[in-house]
Amino acid sequence: MKLHPLVKEVLFTEEQIKERTIEVAKEIKAYYEENYQNDNSILVIGLLKGCVPFYQTFCMNFDFLIDMDFMVVSSYLGGTKSNGEPKINLDINMSVKDRNIIIVEDIVESGYTLEFVQKYLLNKCAKSVKILTMLDKPTERKVAVKPDWTCFTIPKNFLIGYGLDYQEKLRNLPYIAVCDTDKLADWKW
Ligand code: PRP
Ligand code: MN
Ligand code: MG
Repeated sequence: MKLHPLVKEVLFTEEQIKERTIEVAKEIKAYYEENYQNDNSILVIGLLKGCVPFYQTFCMNFDFLIDMDFMVVSSYLGGTKSNGEPKINLDINMSVKDRNIIIVEDIVESGYTLEFVQKYLLNKCAKSVKILTMLDKPTERKVAVKPDWTCFTIPKNFLIGYGLDYQEKLRNLPYIAVCDTDKLADWKW
């Protein structure tokens, strides 16, 4: 496969992501079977747009009755640093009252986005709100948010692919890669 020129190093291939996601999906199924025997379905909320490829991979490998819904909560505005003020640009359609919810993220960095969404859903009387993330970058954390399930913990690099964007692009790379930031200064699409 020909890699995008902004790729410095591939961290995880599509196969590795899928394999790990299947493993985590089994853990999650076991968790809900053990803890919420009387609830037959889970509301899986994806945070657009970064979640899309991982959301698909997870849901297709999660052997459980689920409802799907989405929110757009964005604070990066196309750059590489969070501005710390997440905003809801699109809200969920479904009622969250008394629902068990899994929020699906591509990456947790400062934690601002998830802290905000988790509080928002609990305020609307969700029964439980758990966090599943494909990537966790704990070195960037500004608030005490801990994902309940993480596929991969990663070091302090700017990553692209599998949902992760640079200037809204490269989300469709079928792998997670370290971006060659030396090339960004005079990069032209
Ligand atoms: C990115 C990423 C997470 C969030 C993580 O989203 O997809 O949602 O930032 O950062 P945080 O933990 O510091 O809040 P972004 O706001 O760039 O929107 P996007 O998903 O549309 O790319
Ligand atoms: Mn996002
Ligand atoms: Mg982004």
